[in-house]
Amino acid sequence: MNSIPSSTPIDLMQRRIMENMSASIMVLDAEFSVRYINPACEMLFGISRKKACGKKWEQLVIDNEALTERMQGVITQGHPFTERELKLEVYGHRFLTVDCSVTPLYEPATEPSLLVELQYMERQLQINREENLIAQSHVARELVRGLAHEVKNPLGGLRGAAQLLERELDSEELQEYTQIIIAEADRLQSLVDRMLGPTALPHKERINIHQVLERVYALIKVEAGSDIEIVRNYDPSMPELIADPDQLIQAVLNLVRNAIQAMGTDGRLELRTRSKRQFTIGQQRYKLVAMIEIIDNGPGIPADKVDRIFLPMITGKAEGSGLGLSIAQSLINRHNGLIECSSKPGKTIFRILLPLENLNGNE
Ligand SMILES: Nc1ncnc2c1ncn2[C@@H]1O[C@H](COP(=O)(O)OP(=O)(O)OP(=O)(O)O)[C@@H](O)[C@H]1O
Ligand SMILES: [Mg+2]
Repeated sequence: MNSIPSSTPIDLMQRRIMENMSASIMVLDAEFSVRYINPACEMLFGISRKKACGKKWEQLVIDNEALTERMQGVITQGHPFTERELKLEVYGHRFLTVDCSVTPLYEPATEPSLLVELQYMERQLQINREENLIAQSHVARELVRGLAHEVKNPLGGLRGAAQLLERELDSEELQEYTQIIIAEADRLQSLVDRMLGPTALPHKERINIHQVLERVYALIKVEAGSDIEIVRNYDPSMPELIADPDQLIQAVLNLVRNAIQAMGTDGRLELRTRSKRQFTIGQQRYKLVAMIEIIDNGPGIPADKVDRIFLPMITGKAEGSGLGLSIAQSLINRHNGLIECSSKPGKTIFRILLPLENLNGNE
């Protein structure tokens, strides 16, 4: 915070508010040099505060003369303004859609400075999408579970009756029929069990996410053909989290198996971990979130399907039951996390987001 002009006293509380706000805040001096950015703004621009301070506004927001002119007007006339859904090209040649508010700050005996507030819209739109997704898959999962439950009981009766009948039959030829009934009932039973999904309560313990990934790696190395390259790209500084390791292994395994099935005999699979600061999952914002990405270079998922793949019974495979992703999503939801997906041909990313602050309770 040293970069705030010394004549602008900011007490501890104000400082903490700025540091924890989800809106991106920037303070510019009258020459439009950056004096301060908050952590959310660091994330938005992909630049550290140290690097940003002293840079000109035009170096961070490129080629937007109209906006710069309006900001000049704020300095000269003192009227704040807000522009909605501005498309900006920013530092690092990235494009962002933001709501932008600019307010003059007057301090005695100093030149006026500007408070620039940016609200990242894509993330907001994405949060709305994620919320819908969670609500939709919750309803669909309940439906499927209800159905599975209804099928489970008569199925047990059916199998038992076939067994009793088999004992009464002398002819081996007729016993073949009861064998078929029993075998098909067993097949249906295992489908129904998957439809019911994980029923056990999670046994949470303190774990390192990389132990989970190493376990998945060991399992999948055997399943994947030798022409599938598996790259592990871990962030060694990732803190531990409280979670059920078996449930996380199951969730990651479901995603990794899909990736391998999509790539076929050859391809490249990457298991990547990173931590993210100030990240919103659903409605809740967390200070620190673990991001686990499963990236494959397979054919990808068509844009019109990508929103539906987390629903149960949605499959693109002849032999698929369409339950893998919905189970993975519900396991991660139980850990207050979320799985999201982005895909284009040659690059599909399934991203697991897990809050990391449950060690000390949610802050
Ligand atoms: N990495 C991926 N690349 C391409 N398509 C994918 C990928 N992951 C999932 N999909 C698509 O999403 C669908 C749903 O996946 P999901 O794991 O829920 O079911 P499934 O794999 O078809 O069956 P199950 O996992 O129950 O055996 C898949 O059938 C596939 O079409
Ligand atoms: Mg699957």
